[in-house]
Amino acid sequence: KRRDDGLSRDLYQLMEEANNYYRSQLRSHNDRQKVLDYLDLRGLSQEVVDKFGIGFAPDGWDGLLSRYRNNQDAQDKLLTGGMLIAKDSGSRYDRFRDRLMFPIRDRRGRVVGFGGRVLGEGTPKYLNSPETPIFHKGNELYGLYELKQAHRDPQKVLIVEGYMDVVALAQFDVDYAVASLGTSTTADQFQLLLRNAKEVICCYDGDRAGFDAAWRALETALPLLKPGDQVRFIFLPQGEDPDSLIRQIGKDAFEELISNAKSLEAFLFDTLTEQYGTDKGNFAKQAIVLIEKIQDTVLQNLLLEQLSHKLGMNNADDVKKKLGFNAKPQQPMSSNKGLKGRGT
Ligand code: UTP
Ligand code: MN
Ligand code: MN
Ligand code: MN
Ligand code: MN
Repeated sequence: KRRDDGLSRDLYQLMEEANNYYRSQLRSHNDRQKVLDYLDLRGLSQEVVDKFGIGFAPDGWDGLLSRYRNNQDAQDKLLTGGMLIAKDSGSRYDRFRDRLMFPIRDRRGRVVGFGGRVLGEGTPKYLNSPETPIFHKGNELYGLYELKQAHRDPQKVLIVEGYMDVVALAQFDVDYAVASLGTSTTADQFQLLLRNAKEVICCYDGDRAGFDAAWRALETALPLLKPGDQVRFIFLPQGEDPDSLIRQIGKDAFEELISNAKSLEAFLFDTLTEQYGTDKGNFAKQAIVLIEKIQDTVLQNLLLEQLSHKLGMNNADDVKKKLGFNAKPQQPMSSNKGLKGRGT
């Protein structure tokens, strides 16, 4: 145990050093002009680059590694921290090369991982740190530390897909967005968000993947909701993401979208209506499957009440009687049963 704690301490230290190195390369590397051009192209200001600690990993196999030439112990830890990759021969090289570097900070502000974007076209577009002893993707939220610096007790939090979305929104003073590190928002991430703010607004990209992410978010959130919690949804125009949209329409129009975000109930019923149309039987069945996941009985009854009206019944009790609604809390379902043909 003691040894683990020691390892973690050193890892945090080395991750911080790596971030300082990437930041210094952005200031002074010979190739920095192409990075500055890229930042310009993406419309990122120096202020927001500094706020998020964005840096540059130069091209080459040993930019970071060579700084620890004579320190085998540090090299071993950088390997554990996911910053180096080992070849079969045992020799090592930098994982992140020729990329714009976004440090991922934990709640205490410690750098625990990185996302690295290619400067332009190329694959993968983003390279992320692997899981390490100090970095667990499903538990971290990009931008949460920076958000908490600005708002100790935020009323609402916007959850978006990408690093660029968080950073661009912050630049427009929408400084209450975080990104889940991957396509879907995990239950742990939702719980973390709901502990920090009463209102969570999902704002994924305006494409099929973004819609599917929103639906999965709804399914994930249902069992977690407590009285007073609100989860709402924004659907962006086709092809847009928060970054591209706020640059087009500006802060005020974007915040207008936030205040008009769709309620969870509306998203649920609208989507089922679209999916099942006049097939009331299946509509009701799928609605029940989802509503049974809700643990908050006030919200559960509200949805049953709304369902009863949509089915031409009188009230929630009617639904319970006629459809055999199981009021006993259910275990959250993990599959995408909720909606055929959608989801992963
Ligand atoms: P997007 O493809 O929507 O990226 O992926 P983006 O943020 O809009 O990227 P830009 O605007 O082209 O720079 C959303 C998020 O999914 C993860 C990243 O966290 C990204 O921010 N992702 C995407 C990866 O991890 N790897 C990838 O290759 C692509
Ligand atoms: Mn603010
Ligand atoms: Mn996307
Ligand atoms: Mn984008
Ligand atoms: Mn995007």
